[in-house]
Amino acid sequence: MTQSDIQKELKIVLADTFVLYFKTHAFHWNVTGPRFRSLHGMFEEQYTEMWKATDEIAERIRTIGAFTGNNPSDIMKDATLDHVSQTPDANEMIKMLANDNREIVKSLKKAAEVAVENDDAATEDLMIERMQAHEEAAWMLESSIDKAA
Ligand SMILES: [Fe+2]
Repeated sequence: MTQSDIQKELKIVLADTFVLYFKTHAFHWNVTGPRFRSLHGMFEEQYTEMWKATDEIAERIRTIGAFTGNNPSDIMKDATLDHVSQTPDANEMIKMLANDNREIVKSLKKAAEVAVENDDAATEDLMIERMQAHEEAAWMLESSIDKAA
């Protein structure tokens, strides 16, 4: 393993964070129904947290010597998460975001493992911090699923 392996994993993490950031922000705009106010607010909390994280992840990429893309498609081309084109109903939005928050933890774990193999504790620490944030978001989303819907 080399540092470029860490750079590669961090770029996947940055890409996935951008995809999920964008999806969460779009759902903040497009959610409808009786739970509009609470979901609109929860999605805002989550996309705001992720937006800040994109800066930390990108700056970690720079700190270890790589460059990021300079446009959305370059940055997001490495993503493992999918974009969404349709507008799902509110309950489906919650399920999609919960699932993505669980999925992104897999990219974060992989990056953390590569960081450990390369004795890069700072990258490992950032990945663990991101795992905690996404697991908390997944818990809040999963707790909001309307089982009767
Ligand atoms: Fe807004």
